Amino acid sequence: MRLEDFLARARRETEAALERILPPPGDPLADAMRYSTLAGGKRLRPVLALALHDVLGGSQAPREEVAEAAAALELVHTYSLIHDDLPCMDDDALRRGKPTCHVVHGEALALLAGDALQTLGFEMLASRPSGVPFASGRAEAVLVLARAIGFAGMAGGQALDLEASGHGHPDLRTADRLKEIHGKKTGRLLSASCELGAILAGAAPERRAAAAGFGASLGVLFQIADDLLDVTATAAVLGKSVGKDEAQEKLTYVSVFGLEGAVAERERALGETLSLAKDVEGDPGLLAGLAAYAGHRDR
Ligand code: IPE
Ligand code: IPE
Ligand code: MG
Ligand code: MG
Ligand code: MG
Repeated sequence: MRLEDFLARARRETEAALERILPPPGDPLADAMRYSTLAGGKRLRPVLALALHDVLGGSQAPREEVAEAAAALELVHTYSLIHDDLPCMDDDALRRGKPTCHVVHGEALALLAGDALQTLGFEMLASRPSGVPFASGRAEAVLVLARAIGFAGMAGGQALDLEASGHGHPDLRTADRLKEIHGKKTGRLLSASCELGAILAGAAPERRAAAAGFGASLGVLFQIADDLLDVTATAAVLGKSVGKDEAQEKLTYVSVFGLEGAVAERERALGETLSLAKDVEGDPGLLAGLAAYAGHRDR
């Protein structure tokens, strides 16, 4: 299947799953959750889970339930974006082409929408696919996601990102620290997304590890591209404000390596990700396409 066709199908499946699992509109907290989640977005994390699931042979579970498990990743990702945009963090006013959650719904509801999206994500992973044959896979999925987004993963990476921003101590602004931040704040969730796909497919442990390794590498690649887009893209295309990393003195691939150096690092990361794709599927088709997309996207 062509990459564009796979992306379109997986996104359609994700949108439909999100509509099924989000609380109905008409309640202030539900409206805040729906506002940010249904505002569009590339849906890369569920796309990756579905891609790994399919590439590794799929499963007997109903497709809708596989898509609902994958959509859990989008709920958690959207929670991370809402909190990332709060005034106490990156203080951003534009996300997915719309005013940020706290601008429209207020800070308290934005905070709670993030909390509720995170717990709904775990509820989905604990309950989809349903039935006894999938029980141990569900428990594995919950464990993988919990480890990916907590202290040793996304939340920890976000804390290090804030610590390194502004006139941080030079010890906090090294290339090693940069790689740790990107690996934690973005790499771990993308790694967990690929691993979830492998779990859903009932893959053997070495395939699962290969999927997680591919996702971790793709995640850093994805965040290098994000750092570059903050400098090279427009807000109209990106759907979020640009130039904010320099304004907030963030530790990014551009601030450490310069623009040309960051492009070179992106290509190096793409090469590494492509080679890890081969460890997952012998003939890298779909995964190679997704890696190139992560590195060379325009939004
Ligand atoms: C933005 O994520 C935050 C990062 C981890 C770079 P995305 O670029 O996936 O944002 P959406 O989901 O498409 O809006
Ligand atoms: C965010 O990184 C990573 C998350 C875990 C949300 P950024 O702060 O660079 O993401 P954007 O540029 O605001 O989307
Ligand atoms: Mg941030
Ligand atoms: Mg941000
Ligand atoms: Mg960014």
